Amino acid sequence: MNILAIESSCDDTAAAVVRDGRQILSNVVASQVPEHILYGGVVPEIASRRHVESICGVVREAMAQSGCTFDDLDAAAVTYAPGLIGALLVGVNYAKGLAFSAGLPLVPVHHLRSHIAANYLAHPDLEPPFLALVVSGGHSHIVQVDDYTTCRVIGRTRDDAAGECMDKAARAIGLPYPGGLNLDKASAGGDPHAYKFPRPSVTGCPYDFSFSGLKTAAVNLLHNAAQKGEDVPVKDFGASYIAAVVRALLENTEKAMLDLGAKKLVLAGGVSANSVLRRACAALCEKHGVQLYLPPLNLCGDNAAMVGAQGYYEFMSGRRADASLNARATMGIDAG
Ligand code: KG4
Ligand code: ZN
Repeated sequence: MNILAIESSCDDTAAAVVRDGRQILSNVVASQVPEHILYGGVVPEIASRRHVESICGVVREAMAQSGCTFDDLDAAAVTYAPGLIGALLVGVNYAKGLAFSAGLPLVPVHHLRSHIAANYLAHPDLEPPFLALVVSGGHSHIVQVDDYTTCRVIGRTRDDAAGECMDKAARAIGLPYPGGLNLDKASAGGDPHAYKFPRPSVTGCPYDFSFSGLKTAAVNLLHNAAQKGEDVPVKDFGASYIAAVVRALLENTEKAMLDLGAKKLVLAGGVSANSVLRRACAALCEKHGVQLYLPPLNLCGDNAAMVGAQGYYEFMSGRRADASLNARATMGIDAG
């Protein structure tokens, strides 16, 4: 079964053709990074306009690279929530028009579920149930995935997401957008013990995260150093900060893994590209004899292949959208 998938939830315009939820026939992403770099972050209005300009060409290219014609397609899938509303609306409306004109069923896909599904494309043996740590620019969740379309949120951030937290610290020390990626690169070989950051916890909720204190601590550290005329080496600052974020993520994940008796851990979302997080997850899983599944680097960030993967399982569970499908800026992963 071949699905044409479309993703436009943030600043990447993406289309892909995926077979049976597991095989990528094409995966095309038009990045807007060069433009948003000028502003130090994603400007929603610009993102929406660029999606409008790019989407026809991106879909055409995904179809051409897949070797499929519209007659070879069985369904169209689209990210409809959560994300930037103006950006999502471009993909949703394009997909509605395309599905209607091509006579294809339309499948709505939750963005975070699709991040998890990126792992199905890389790991043929991966099947639910499993525990997932989903860390993106807007979300940080520990999720129990019971089956392909049913999941429960075990822990969530009470304030900022891990990716947002990386981006803010990167920006504060003067690194360009995309901050998380640049902080990761700039921190290679740095001393993770050079600077002390708080250990956040949420009283009474052992699986929930809080990152706003870490972010504030980073900004204060930089301000204090600037006032004293002290130099803060990016390498050591970044390494210490990333170590603190990763420690916060994995302390709770370890608790959840042990309490729920997880046998498999899946990492998902843009922050799963972080080199320190990937190594720390490997060490954690090895310590507890848990099987770890990491998305390949090219599927960590936003892409449409992951939408095609999750779209397949949503389709198989009977999920369909009609012309009334709307985009939603927020929506729980368990409600999607
Ligand atoms: O999943 P994603 O591509 O978009 C959202 O759904 O939000 O995640 C983007 C986030 C950004 O905050 C970005 O800084 C972060 O993922 N990110 C990283 C790395 N690559 C991307 N954070 C840390 N290290 C990286 N290597
Ligand atoms: Zn994402």
